Amino acid sequence: MKRVFSGVQPTGNIHIGNYLGALKQFVELQDDNECFYCIVDEHAITVPQDPKELKKHILDVAALYIAIGIDPKKSVVFVQSQVPAHAELGWILTCVSNTGELFRMTQFKAKSHGQESVGTGLLTYPALMAADILLYDTDIVPVGNDQKQHIELTRDLAIRVNNRYGKTFVVPDGRFLKTGARIMALDDPTAKMSKSAVNEMSRISLLDEPSKIKKAIMRATTDSEGSVRFDIENKPGISNLLSIYSAFSGTPIEELERQYEGHGYGDFKKDLVEITVNALNPIRERFQEIRYSQELVDSLRDGAERADAIAVKTMERVRDRLGMGI
Ligand code: TYM
Repeated sequence: MKRVFSGVQPTGNIHIGNYLGALKQFVELQDDNECFYCIVDEHAITVPQDPKELKKHILDVAALYIAIGIDPKKSVVFVQSQVPAHAELGWILTCVSNTGELFRMTQFKAKSHGQESVGTGLLTYPALMAADILLYDTDIVPVGNDQKQHIELTRDLAIRVNNRYGKTFVVPDGRFLKTGARIMALDDPTAKMSKSAVNEMSRISLLDEPSKIKKAIMRATTDSEGSVRFDIENKPGISNLLSIYSAFSGTPIEELERQYEGHGYGDFKKDLVEITVNALNPIRERFQEIRYSQELVDSLRDGAERADAIAVKTMERVRDRLGMGI
């Protein structure tokens, strides 16, 4: 059995990009692997958060994990700050990393662009992400394409520690899907779909009502050519919608192109609305059932205990290799 680790930030508006790029993989992997799915609240505070909102979003993500089909009895579902070893190993890996490689991270560049000053945590964030992964001797990290550079850094840090101090960490691999790894904004298909974009119509959140889903898809930016064809360079809008359709339905993009030959964007979009609504309806219903349940809190407590038991052991090994403590 392989170890799988991944995480989602509790920063609101979990959208179909998160789902099709990462969360869908979480469910697929849980039957044949030992999976750890984390709600990374220590990552969320790299930018200021309202405490009440943060707490709400943590439970929202937990409920969404379960609503999409993650079984907390099979997989370990937990909140990062409930397992103190994340912060401890995060610090150690901050010391192992160098500023040059952290300043090169495109996510840091994007988030700090144009700002006079940003929180230090925004820079050191990838070392904490590496800690999340390496604490559990992880083999596989299912994520979207935007995390590729962070996974590379995680591998580099693991190899650096192993070379300096002797075998300490498993060197993990990222797992990226062929379709869905980078879902773009519906209003601007040259930008990634994101939780924080101001325009609500730029994304479809997992909890959106059918009327909102319909509006966002019918208004999605396309082009004036009118043929349903995948061509990222020249037709980024319709290509993005084809990726979403394919990821939700499991139908290969080439087959969709054949199916919609001679049809306009209107027909295609109408069908995409139906496919999306049918995929998200059961998630929204299950979410409502469990979001305010004691069962949810209990499974997070249980998950933190199970994760902590492993993380504590890893930290004993790490401190020992590095000569820390007494
Ligand atoms: P986060 O919370 O931004 O996103 C959660 C997951 O969703 C993927 N994703 C996307 N996939 C396709 N298209 C998009 N438009 C899109 N937007 C987001 C992300 O790639 C991610 O897999 N740093 C991570 C959280 C993290 C983590 C970890 C992940 C912290 N520690 C350890 C894996 C392992 C993040 O900010 O994800």
